[in-house]
Amino acid sequence: MKPHERLPLDFKRMLPSEQLQESRQFVNRMASRRSVRFFSPEPVPFELIENAIRCAALAPSGANQQPWKFVVVQDPEIKRKIREAAEAEERESYGHRMPPDWLRALAPLGTDWHKEFLETAPYLIVVFRIDFGLAQTVEGESRIKHYYVQESVGIATGFLLAALHIGGLATLTHTPSPMGFLSSILGRPKNERPFVLIPVGFPSPDATVPAIAKKSLAEVMDIK
Ligand SMILES: Cc1cc2nc3c(=O)[nH]c(=O)nc-3n(C[C@H](O)[C@H](O)[C@H](O)COP(=O)(O)O)c2cc1C
Repeated sequence: MKPHERLPLDFKRMLPSEQLQESRQFVNRMASRRSVRFFSPEPVPFELIENAIRCAALAPSGANQQPWKFVVVQDPEIKRKIREAAEAEERESYGHRMPPDWLRALAPLGTDWHKEFLETAPYLIVVFRIDFGLAQTVEGESRIKHYYVQESVGIATGFLLAALHIGGLATLTHTPSPMGFLSSILGRPKNERPFVLIPVGFPSPDATVPAIAKKSLAEVMDIK
């Protein structure tokens, strides 16, 4: 394959004072992001969802293959089906599939199999990973290998969560296990696999969050 044409980098050199101001502001904004499990049914401007997905789709990816798809669910009937299927799986998981260590790790968060937020949140964004590309050739369908899918989709999901938060919306990173039901309910092709399910909206007025702490900079950063 021919190499891409090369373009000058579009890079705005900021004043050092601006750099610090922007980066501090961003840290402060991100410090108020929390996983929310109580949503208001209040509608959300759709452009906020679109812009967050635009932002996620700007993420770096292995060989620029962009192995992701963001399915936005707003239809109450589809949300109901997703809640029903997720609760059935989660009831099994909390009931007897999760080993005691896992249940112990989750206990302080107070989560259980009830997933009411899957119906109350105005939108569910289901992130799918595209495990391989599909191409039609004269011999029939052929598969194109994708590289670093997990890492790429993880980074794009981080961009998505940050953009939704900056847009003033609440999210939950939800991974009902197993998640195969999302492929069938949403009619996804065979090369896509569910990665994460993100309810999005405004928090309910009485929403609470567990009082957890984040590790300090000294704990997470090592300088050599
Ligand atoms: C990969 C991943 C999967 C998660 N799955 C769930 C989940 O299925 N249900 C849930 O209630 N929270 C889930 N969480 C949210 C975590 O519990 C939450 O991020 C953590 O407790 C820290 O809280 P914070 O997001 O408010 O900082 C998940 C988070 C991540 C990153």
